[in-house]
Amino acid sequence: MITVKTVAELRSAVAAARAAGQRIGFVPTMGNLHAGHVALVSEAGRHADFVVASIFVNPLQFGAHEDLDTYPRTLAADQEKLNGAGCQLLFAPGVEQMYPDGMAGQTRVSVPGVSEGLCGASRPGHFEGVATVVTKLFNMVQPDLAVFGEKDFQQLAVIRKLVRDLDLPIEIVGLPTVRAADGLALSSRNGYLDEAQRAIAPQLFATLGEIAAALRAGQNDHAALLARAETTLRQAGFEPDYLEIRHPLTLQPAIAADRQRVILAAARLGNTRLIDNLLVDLDATAC
Ligand code: PAF
Repeated sequence: MITVKTVAELRSAVAAARAAGQRIGFVPTMGNLHAGHVALVSEAGRHADFVVASIFVNPLQFGAHEDLDTYPRTLAADQEKLNGAGCQLLFAPGVEQMYPDGMAGQTRVSVPGVSEGLCGASRPGHFEGVATVVTKLFNMVQPDLAVFGEKDFQQLAVIRKLVRDLDLPIEIVGLPTVRAADGLALSSRNGYLDEAQRAIAPQLFATLGEIAAALRAGQNDHAALLARAETTLRQAGFEPDYLEIRHPLTLQPAIAADRQRVILAAARLGNTRLIDNLLVDLDATAC
């Protein structure tokens, strides 16, 4: 795997692969990679001949009081993991490469509808920052396909809509969340948890599982189910940010007629904000 830091080097390496007839797969990341990212890279390798990853901690998607400065930067370890996962080219630009004229006057991409509510409500500007950097990265790499994790369910919906709305010729592949053995969704932010918080953290996914079981059992009073689950989370030590049952494509509140629903949650444990989600298909046969 080679690592490049400039757009010019990136473009020339990708052009060489394309000239050799290779299909280009892309996995954008913010680094501090874990097994979830490795799965994204492996998946890209199943769909493409030449896999490009990027590592860029994008200031545009962090709020003023968020963890931009403390977000872990672990380039050497990340390079090793990417190499092992079959990535051929890593693009690891600095801020001046991505935003040469600064961020204040940067043209932004805003995706209406799916960006609103949920994480969009508690992190104003976040999805505009994500959509802007992802659009720039797509234009720099010009991949045939890009792979994103379903853990960031709303982000994936935002990116699918941006690709559709702007007619970008890129196939978007979503990959199910990779979890620790106890159910906790893998996330770079799990590293912020102390031992006691890490022991509590799996209860977020367990609570989503309880809501899913109730939905499968035919309970459709979403408000009651969510209120009960919120109490469970608070009792476990979480400070819930949101807990919602939505339609998986529109992200609008789900109704009883919806056979597919997604349960989405964000909750704080101490200073760490965890997110998770669980898709429920009421038409799937139980096994
Ligand atoms: O999911 C992430 O790591 C980031 O939001 C992304 C897509 C790399 C954009 O900075």
